[in-house]
Amino acid sequence: MSALLELQGAGISFGGLHAVDDLSFAVEKGHIVALIGPNGAGKTTVFNMITGVYRPTKGKVCFQGQEITGWQPHAIARAGIMRTFQTIRLFPAMSVFENVRAGGHLRAQQYWWQGMLSLPAQRREETALAERTHEILCKLDLDRFANEPATSLPYGVQRRVELARTLAAEPKLVILDEPAAGLNDAESSALNRTIFGIRDSGITVLLVEHDMNVVMNVTDHIVVINFGRKIAEGNAAAIRSNPQVIEAYLGRDENEAENVT
Ligand SMILES: Nc1ncnc2c1ncn2[C@@H]1O[C@H](COP(=O)(O)OP(=O)(O)O)[C@@H](O)[C@H]1O
Ligand SMILES: [Mg+2]
Repeated sequence: MSALLELQGAGISFGGLHAVDDLSFAVEKGHIVALIGPNGAGKTTVFNMITGVYRPTKGKVCFQGQEITGWQPHAIARAGIMRTFQTIRLFPAMSVFENVRAGGHLRAQQYWWQGMLSLPAQRREETALAERTHEILCKLDLDRFANEPATSLPYGVQRRVELARTLAAEPKLVILDEPAAGLNDAESSALNRTIFGIRDSGITVLLVEHDMNVVMNVTDHIVVINFGRKIAEGNAAAIRSNPQVIEAYLGRDENEAENVT
């Protein structure tokens, strides 16, 4: 199996509610994959199962061929899965630079023992981290905000800072929960380019998104869920013309259907 991430019959219930049930799909290495579905379909819950926030009550989650079901969130992050959240979570007292560097510390901590044994090695690590932080800031067009307090910036910029922070941890897989939410058209097109850039740097991307400009234009593969179950998967063209997908979205009231497209 060449899949980087694989869910096999994964499910979770809260009380009597099957929020996600019997869900299987794979994310191939180097792909950009979208998980879509109407509000309440279970998308964030799937992300929470993958990242260890929730423990699946059924099935398996495998990463790089290794089962990670039930692992603690920090162990899953160390294994190489990093995420952003549906609502922004930045460190308010820190600058943009410090926020992004904090993401890199997760990786640097693996070398904490070097700090104990020799100070120069630790200093080298800090310098390398600062350089990498700077590189990521440039790549995401954030370098001019480096010294600004992160939470004082416009919403679209804060979302980019959050993305930069996850990249600083050098993940193998990034999981983005509605990265285009609240962005204007120009920002959402810029996000498309950023997502391509992430993929081109060798990082696999799994995202939940309602913005069809993002979903249809950037993804290699789309998985559609409704009521916690998979109803379709395929490329953008196949998904757009899939009758079950159309029904899942059109079977809702007009305002909501517009919302989720
Ligand atoms: N911790 C929880 N306890 C109880 N129900 C939950 C919990 N988390 C999610 N759910 C339920 O699971 C379903 C899917 O939610 P969610 O994954 O947030 O949907 P989506 O992200 O697709 O909008 C909803 O019915 C939600 O109320
Ligand atoms: Mg959600």
